[in-house]
Amino acid sequence: MTVRQTTLLALGLCGLLAIADACHQGNNEAPHMQASKVSPHKFSHQGSVREMSIAPEDMQFPQGEGKAEFEMYCGICHSLKYVTAQPPFSREVWAAEVHKMAEKFGAPVDSANAEKITNYLVTINGIKP
Ligand code: HEC
Repeated sequence: MTVRQTTLLALGLCGLLAIADACHQGNNEAPHMQASKVSPHKFSHQGSVREMSIAPEDMQFPQGEGKAEFEMYCGICHSLKYVTAQPPFSREVWAAEVHKMAEKFGAPVDSANAEKITNYLVTINGIKP
């Protein structure tokens, strides 16, 4: 296994854990709202079921249209900061990134949310083409 595959596997597992945790909570609140309620690094073990809550990110992102969608969907598999720490990109590149996350990796964003997230990323970290 290459380092890159191992990283992808680790990211995938984190995504699964985050999704399993959200399902287990059984309500419709946004993942980031749930995250703010859990204490950091909670780990429990019952029979063969293990639960882990990952500490909420202590990050403030600029206000703007699409911020809620960005925070809801783009921190499931990797940190939000991983996204905002990228160099500034054009709208075309951000749109392609969001599209790739949805199509290739299965980020649960529909086209309306993809549009909002793209607009938000262009606003906070965009460059003219
Ligand atoms: C289902 C899991 C998943 C979700 C949800 C997700 N990503 Fe990713 N993202 C990944 C993986 C896996 C990588 C690493 C890809 C690679 O190394 O090629 C990645 C990498 C990235 C990168 C680094 C550049 C790149 O293409 O590798 C950016 C930027 C990014 N994601 C943005 C986002 C945005 C914006 C969202 C919200 C719409 C999002 N991601 C949601 C899985 C996800």
